[in-house]
Amino acid sequence: MKTKKNFNAAEANILVTGGAGFIGSNFIRYVLGRPEFRGRIVNYDKLTYAGTLANLEGVAAEYGRRYSFVKGDICDYGKVMKVLKKHRITAVVHFAAESHVDRSIFGPKDFIETNVHGTFSMLEAARHFWAGRKDVRFHHVSTDEVYGSLGRTGSFSEATPYDPRSPYSASKASSDHIARAYFHTYGLPVSVSNCSNNYGPRHYPEKLIPLLILNALDGRDLPVYGDGKNVRDWLFVEDHCSAVWSILRRGRPGETYNVGGSCEKENIAVVREVCRELELVRPAAANPALKGRAYADLITFVKDRPGHDRRYAINSSKIRRELGWKPAHDFRSGLKAAIAWYLRNPRWLAAVRKASYSAWLEKNYTRR
Ligand code: NAD
Ligand code: DAU
Repeated sequence: MKTKKNFNAAEANILVTGGAGFIGSNFIRYVLGRPEFRGRIVNYDKLTYAGTLANLEGVAAEYGRRYSFVKGDICDYGKVMKVLKKHRITAVVHFAAESHVDRSIFGPKDFIETNVHGTFSMLEAARHFWAGRKDVRFHHVSTDEVYGSLGRTGSFSEATPYDPRSPYSASKASSDHIARAYFHTYGLPVSVSNCSNNYGPRHYPEKLIPLLILNALDGRDLPVYGDGKNVRDWLFVEDHCSAVWSILRRGRPGETYNVGGSCEKENIAVVREVCRELELVRPAAANPALKGRAYADLITFVKDRPGHDRRYAINSSKIRRELGWKPAHDFRSGLKAAIAWYLRNPRWLAAVRKASYSAWLEKNYTRR
């Protein structure tokens, strides 16, 4: 069935894949909280080690029938098709992925399965379900890591050639190409965003910033890979959510938008800032786990990540110029908000700790 209507994000029935993860859950909360949004959200998630319904606590109670959850795998074409039909989905925002670079080095198989095959399966289901409609949208969420590693200068633009270097980034690069191929070949209204490093509430503590916060509070080592001089471009998660929402509302199908915080930092500087901020809000001197040490005393240089990309920096002038997007948080305010959230949510921490992260970390991160 073809229609001439334009896509209207404010009234869409949105299927969010990976909505129980870090960014997906923040995105669901962000969109449901937008005054202009009158549609519904279905959260479709397999609940892997990285996904937890604790990330959505309170959402169903607050939004009633406008929010629902379906447990499922993006590789399961039949199940995805059923959900698309049942909920009359008009937009897919595709976050679901295996997302941790270190895990992709230890075991790449799940990354190829979920990120490549899963994305293909989602695109196929959307293509067949929408059957040529143009008043719909498939937004594919991706990463700046597809562009490879920078030297001391320069930044990634949308025109930078792909040069992925880890199994994770190679799997995301592959999924980006497939998503764009569905626009060019089948006319599926696909948009893509490539974003830099997020941080903030509900970040799974295998990633640098939440790992530092939790380890520091527990008096454990703060592992810094290599010389600590690798550079990442940090963005508060809510700013990523507002970017994806602005692409959904005003972005053009067939386009790619780079999203970044213009906030480049060496890892060692991030580690020091986390320690400084923790000393202010939860002084080490009053924390029995520290046994008289300062948080900074826990900094420990460890063996480098294999193939560790040296520097990322995103040029996000296209989304700023065309869609009027800009981040609302700088690193200081974002980090304060992130730390405050972890301190306020011991129940979430206990649930995540129990799940699996410590055992996995113990096994794989003792590589000094
Ligand atoms: P995350 O690991 O916190 O969450 C991933 C979610 O996907 C989890 O809820 C998990 O259960 C779900 N999932 C995994 N495999 C699935 C499957 N086969 N079927 C259904 N659900 C499945 O990841 P995140 O950090 O929130 O990242 C979300 C997306 O954003 C990813 O596509 C990632 O590549 C991209 N991204 C992340 C960042 C970042 O800094 N975290 C930056 C740029 C882009
Ligand atoms: O750039 C976007 C990407 O950012 C996303 O696509 C990924 O999904 C996300 O995980 C993130 O990847 P990174 O590898 O950059 O994030 P991570 O938090 O794992 O590491 C950030 C930097 O800190 C990186 O240079 C490695 C380093 N590091 C990481 C950990 C976990 C350490 O020095 N010590 C650590 O313990």
